[in-house]
Amino acid sequence: MNTERPIGIFDSGIGGLTVVKAIQAALPHEQIIYFGDTARVPYGPKSQVTIRKYAYDDVAILMRHQPKMIIVACNTVSALALDVVEKASGAIPVIGVLKAGAELAVKATKNNHIGVIGTQATVSSNAYACAIHQLNPEIEVVSKACPLFVPLAEEGFIDHPATKLIAREYLTDINKHGIDTLVLGCTHYPILRRVIEETIGHGIRIIDSAEAVALRTHQLLTESGELNHHRRTTAPHLLVSDLPQKFSVIYQLFMNSELPDVELVEV
Ligand code: DGL
Repeated sequence: MNTERPIGIFDSGIGGLTVVKAIQAALPHEQIIYFGDTARVPYGPKSQVTIRKYAYDDVAILMRHQPKMIIVACNTVSALALDVVEKASGAIPVIGVLKAGAELAVKATKNNHIGVIGTQATVSSNAYACAIHQLNPEIEVVSKACPLFVPLAEEGFIDHPATKLIAREYLTDINKHGIDTLVLGCTHYPILRRVIEETIGHGIRIIDSAEAVALRTHQLLTESGELNHHRRTTAPHLLVSDLPQKFSVIYQLFMNSELPDVELVEV
């Protein structure tokens, strides 16, 4: 049995830590290995060809650690390169954040008007609208790319006036469409959730796919008999492709943890 093997999670940077948090809460006995491609963040403004190449490299790094499952904690990769991840991970199950987010949003909306914010690549791919329409073709989807949210989150500008200003600029338009649900279609955005929520208005349901991904992970590992039942409290094994000290400090702030060790790997 593979119960002791880690769950591999990756993103372009710190965004995927929102998923790590949810996995730790739902599956506290699991060992996690996280890769943040900090040398090449952001992915969102890049071309599909580049994003697919990065996705392949990210999986290759995690595969060296023999994970029992891969979680794509990046909407951009989930939208444009999930097939690349599935191919590169062979027989290992893969979960992407995008499908989970779409499912949650469809369940949450009451007036069938959903807003999606994400990176330029995710929004241009139309992947959220497709996933939502597969579940319910009646739903109206309005999308908006919010590229500056990624560097703001990476800088830790969680409650900064600049973040509030940019949130107003991005979200004012989307608010005119009568949406009752807003999908945070980039894993960096939950880091800025408070400002996003205040700007869009508290009556709108915010969807963060991290919890849905954690539930799905639990379900898949239970079905395959690969849940780790041995109690352990080891911190995630953290890998980055650049600036491990910077990542370590942000990790400590965001995860409320001790300053962790972060390993530098080459991509
Ligand atoms: N956090 C990622 C996402 O969910 C990528 C953000 C970026 O690198 O542009 O899309």
